[in-house]
Formats: sequence, structure tokens, C-alpha cells
Amino acid sequence: MSSEEDSSQASSSSVSPPTSSFSSPPPVSHFIGRKEDIVRAGRVTQLVNGCRDVLVLHHQGQLYAMDKHCYHAGGALQNGDIEEFNGLLCIVCPWHKYKITLAEGEGLYQAVDNPTARPLRTHWRSKGVKQRIHKVAEVNGDVYVTLNDSGEAIESDVYQTEKYRTMFQAVQPKPKPRK
Ligand code: FES
Repeated sequence: MSSEEDSSQASSSSVSPPTSSFSSPPPVSHFIGRKEDIVRAGRVTQLVNGCRDVLVLHHQGQLYAMDKHCYHAGGALQNGDIEEFNGLLCIVCPWHKYKITLAEGEGLYQAVDNPTARPLRTHWRSKGVKQRIHKVAEVNGDVYVTLNDSGEAIESDVYQTEKYRTMFQAVQPKPKPRK
């Protein structure tokens, strides 16, 4: 556990749904696609406003948007499974299995009460917000993202540079040639 990780208990209290419905697109929003297409695909990624790689996903009737690259080492979150931990829906990064809450972008970790006691008792706890979450809105079947421009640095910001964009594209698996 890094020193910056706090030990706050991961909360299972209800969080506000990340999808909003409006009669017109919110100001400074970016069109992502038709909701029906996103629901069908489950996940879409897009370079938003020419500067931010965003993952938009649909799960259990809700839309969520977050930075596409995992805060830990830039893993491709669009390939992660969605699982529930302590009542919180998380995307599990396919690279090293970090858990990130869909609604808040918190990193979760499993803490042990007393490492000498048997059986071990563990709890899910929060490291705080590590992944930048963006707002999603649906307007007449169109889905828009409003980038979270909070000036506070969030760890996933590190992978939102041209250098990493180029690097990640270079390591994408190449499509297999057709026979
Ligand atoms: S890159 Fe996501 S867990 Fe390591």
C-alpha cells in the first residue's frame, strides 16, 4: 500500500446515478454516439475534444464515463470486467486487477484487520479518487459527455498525454489478416 492511500472505509452508501436526462445537450458537452449503439456495444472509447481518451460504458441500465487508461499503469479499462465489491460497482483493470468504482473513480483495496489473527478478516477500503470520472447525459437518445475539468490532479491524468496516446496505439494488438 502506498503512503498516499488513506484507510477510509469503502462506502456502500448510495451514490447519485451518473446518467442524467436533459431536453437539450448540457453546455460544453461532446457527442459520443446514439444510446442504442452504446448499449449494444456495451463500451465505447473516444478521444473527446481532441485531448481526453474517455471510456463510456453501459451497465445495468446506467451509462458511466471515465478516463480510458487505468491510473495504475495505463491499463486498457475498456477490456475490464465489471464486478461489485462492498456494494459498489467497479471496473476491474485487466492488467493488474485494480478495482475502480464506476460512479466515483475510487480505487479500492482489501485491508486486513489483524495479519496475525486466523481466520484473516478483510474489508474493502478506499484509496480515494484515483480515476477521473466524467458526466454523461442522454438527450433524445443521443449520449453526451462533459469532461470533468476540476483543477485538482487525479492520478489517471498522467496517461492523458500525446506521448502515452502514441505509445498505447503502438501496442494495440494488430487485426489478424484475413485468409
Ligand atoms: S494498469 Fe490497471 S491495474 Fe495496473
